[in-house]
Amino acid sequence: MTYQAKQYDCIAKGLEGLTPRQLQQHYGLYEGYVKKINEIDAKMPAADLTSANATYAELRELQVEQTYALNGVVLHEFFFSGLVEKNGEPSGELARVIDRDHGGLAKWADRLKAVGKCARGWVIFGLNTRDAASHFYLLDFHNVYMPALVIPIIVLDTYEHAYMIDYGTNRAGYLDTYVKHINWVAATKRWDRAVGWTMGPATTE
Ligand SMILES: [Fe+2]
Repeated sequence: MTYQAKQYDCIAKGLEGLTPRQLQQHYGLYEGYVKKINEIDAKMPAADLTSANATYAELRELQVEQTYALNGVVLHEFFFSGLVEKNGEPSGELARVIDRDHGGLAKWADRLKAVGKCARGWVIFGLNTRDAASHFYLLDFHNVYMPALVIPIIVLDTYEHAYMIDYGTNRAGYLDTYVKHINWVAATKRWDRAVGWTMGPATTE
């Protein structure tokens, strides 16, 4: 299969605190990752296997950039579809999990923003199927520090390109705005889907 860039209403319309220009510039990067994963996937079958090497090889370079481009697509899709103008609050099982694992929504948001200040790429709030609980994970690039067995529920882009046009280097201002636009309907749907996976020690059997 080949990837196609998805469309998101918020890109053209903008959101309060995130201008259409900011979101359009950001969306353009996502389109670039879509092109690159298709290019890499097309080249992979013909890569030279005889020169395989951990220092430099055509195959190695394709494999390394494959996860970079793929996660560049997937994480941006979680991010853009996770934005909404009016967001309300979490509900259902996800609301209970935020209380159980993080002491309520206010503490959860404080931790999200704090991890967001630490990250050089992404924050993933996800369901760790191995321990059946929710955690925050930090990525410094699309494919650096990506945890295994974690299903993303809320994905925050902390690269400067996500906010530089609207906020300059004021990441804290961007994070405050981001929290106001978290699409809790989408997050709840993701959580309810994620809990259908095998949980606990059986995940690695
Ligand atoms: Fe981004």
